[in-house]
Amino acid sequence: MTSTKIAVIGGSGIYDIDGLGSAEWVSVETPWGSPSDQILTGRLEGVDMAFLPRHGRGHVHAPTDVPYRANIDALKRLGVTDVISVSACGSFREAMAPGDFVIVDQFIDRTFAREKSFFGTGCVAHVSVAHPTCPRLSEACETAARAAGIPVHRGGTYLAMEGPQFSTLAESKMYREHWGADVIGMTNMPEAKLAREAELCYASVAMVTDYDSWHPDHGEVDVAQIIATLMRNADNGRALVKGLPALLGPDRAPCPHGCDRSLDHAILTAPDK
Ligand code: ADE
Repeated sequence: MTSTKIAVIGGSGIYDIDGLGSAEWVSVETPWGSPSDQILTGRLEGVDMAFLPRHGRGHVHAPTDVPYRANIDALKRLGVTDVISVSACGSFREAMAPGDFVIVDQFIDRTFAREKSFFGTGCVAHVSVAHPTCPRLSEACETAARAAGIPVHRGGTYLAMEGPQFSTLAESKMYREHWGADVIGMTNMPEAKLAREAELCYASVAMVTDYDSWHPDHGEVDVAQIIATLMRNADNGRALVKGLPALLGPDRAPCPHGCDRSLDHAILTAPDK
């Protein structure tokens, strides 16, 4: 058994954790540079917590410029064991309506202007991301969402796009009809891949704000609609997070799915002598 330390990486609209005791913003530096912001640490229901605003307080980092490697490394250095990503997304499914949460379990990575690995200079490693999210942590997110009365879908494929523009109609239709994506966002990659390299359990709560541009009754992405839904989602996101410590508990058994031992099974090359 080790101690649980839950990190929440908050997206647009979420900038803290409700009810956090002994709350303190701490600065962490990493070999990959500074994370998006200071990290809020504290305790909730007897469990250590950390919160990192992905875009920084004041929303200063665009999706392409989020320092993903520094963020994950900083959380690892703080002793985090479990990372919950909370982020806004568009939906490709009628049933995944604005205001719904999707606990995604797969990704299609279409980002192309971001550093995606901790490995490569001197030491090459290939970790498996066949199953990029942790079922144990995802289960806790689903349970916490249901307990808070949030409409939630378990499982879904998240298409990670570079942005910052939204998709064209042709792209939106292609992702939905031919690629089988369920939701679309700009931030979960390479975050999920880096969490796996860092042997952290990772779950993603994607909060639907819009139907992207494919939906015949909703037209193109309407920014005013996104912001209204985003505010409602942020309240629900905070309620979900509040339920997590009681579900995960302070003592942590090794991940039954091996997320916390991913490098045991990676292909690694020794650094050149
Ligand atoms: N975030 C929220 N809505 C989105 C959309 N339609 N596409 C990409 N990212 C989003």
